[in-house]
Amino acid sequence: MRQRFQLPEGVIYLDGNSLGAMPRAVPARMHRAIEQEWATGLIRSWNDADWYPAPQRVGARIARLVGAEDNEVIVADSTSVNLFKLLVAALRMRPGRSLMLGERGNFPTDAYVAQGVAEITGTQFRAVEPDEVLAALNEDVAVLALTHVNYKSGQAYDMAAVTRRAHEVGALVIWDLAHTAGAMPCALNDCEVDFAVGCGYKYLNGGPGAPSFAFVARRHQEGLRQPLTGWHGHARPFAFTHGYEPAPGIDRMLVGTAPQLGLIALEAALTAFDGVDLQALRAKSVALTGLFIALVDQELGAHGFGLATPRDPALRGSQVSLTHPEGYAIVQALIARGVIGDFRAPDILRFGFAALYLGHCDVWNAVAALKSVMAEGDWRKPEFMARKAVT
Ligand SMILES: Cc1ncc(COP(=O)(O)O)c(C=O)c1O
Repeated sequence: MRQRFQLPEGVIYLDGNSLGAMPRAVPARMHRAIEQEWATGLIRSWNDADWYPAPQRVGARIARLVGAEDNEVIVADSTSVNLFKLLVAALRMRPGRSLMLGERGNFPTDAYVAQGVAEITGTQFRAVEPDEVLAALNEDVAVLALTHVNYKSGQAYDMAAVTRRAHEVGALVIWDLAHTAGAMPCALNDCEVDFAVGCGYKYLNGGPGAPSFAFVARRHQEGLRQPLTGWHGHARPFAFTHGYEPAPGIDRMLVGTAPQLGLIALEAALTAFDGVDLQALRAKSVALTGLFIALVDQELGAHGFGLATPRDPALRGSQVSLTHPEGYAIVQALIARGVIGDFRAPDILRFGFAALYLGHCDVWNAVAALKSVMAEGDWRKPEFMARKAVT
C-alpha cells in the first residue's frame, strides 16, 4: 500500500492526521482535470466530464469507509460549515429542546461553531468534560456533538454506547470523524448514528483544504432542514425558480458550486483505499501506535515526556500524543531530522500513524531520532524555539 503514496526520500511522515500524504494517483488525475477538462472542455465538463455529480460520487466512496450507504454521505464545504448546517438542522428536529451538548477539549472549531449557532438560534451550548458526557445527557438536550477521536489526546469514544445513551433521552447525535475516517473502521449505521462530518485532507489524503464530508442517516433525510439554502441544494437548481425547495435526500446538504479541483483530487486520493480491509488497517495501526508507546517507555524515560494517549488500544485512534514543556522546539528539531510530527499548544507533541504508508521500521527510526534530539539537546537551538504561524 505504501507504493500507492509519493513520499519524499529521507522523511518519516507522522502527520497524516493533519495533512495526509499524497497518493500517486493524484497528479495524473489533476493534470487531466486541468489540461483537458478545464482548459479544453471548459464549461462543457460540468456534463461531459461528470463534474456535476462529483459530490455524491465521492461521498459514496467515503460512505464505504465509515459504515454508511451510498446516498448517505455527500462531499461539500468544510467540516466547520457542515457542522453548522447539521447543528441547526438537528435543533429544528427537536423543537422544545434548547441545549446543544459538547465536550471540553474538543477541537476549537466544534465549540466555536456551536457557540455561533447558539447565538443565532437562541439556544444554549454546554461543554462538559469527556467523562461527564453520559451523565449530562437529559431531556433538555436536542443534540450531542462530539469528536470521535480527540485531536490532542487521540482518545476515542465508544460510539455505539454514547449514541445509544443519547437516543435514550431523545437527543440526536453528530459525530465529528476528522480523526477517524480513513484511520480506522467506523460503523455509523450499525451504531444508529444520526449525523456525522469529517475532513477530506487528513487520513483520506485529499490534499490541503480538501472538501469535507457530511453523513445524514437515510431516516432523517426527508425531514432535514439545513439553514444554508443555496442553489445546489435546491430540488431543481437549473430551473432558476424564486422560492427555495430542498432537493430530495442527501443532496439538500449542498450549498453552492462544488470546488471541483479539490473534489477531483480527493476522488483520486480515495483510490488508495481500493481493496483495503479496514480491519487489517486497524490491526496495523494498533501495532504501530503500540510499538511507539513501548519504545518511548523503553528509550525516553529520562527525558520528561508524558503520555497523553490511552495505553488501551480500544480507547485510542491512530495517533499517539506525548507531553513535554519544550514540545514545540522538540518537534521542530525532530522535523529538521526528517521526522515530521506536529505540536498542539500548550505541550502536546502529536504523532499520527497512517497505517497505509507507515511501517514498523519507521516507528523505530522515529523514536531513535527523538532520543538523539533529546540526548544531544539540539532542540535548544534558537531556530527551533521561534514559533511559526502554523504549528
Ligand atoms: C476534530 C476536528 N474537526 C474539524 C477540523 C477542521 O475543520 P475545517 O475543515 O473546517 O477546517 C479539525 C482540524 O484539524 C479537527 O481536528
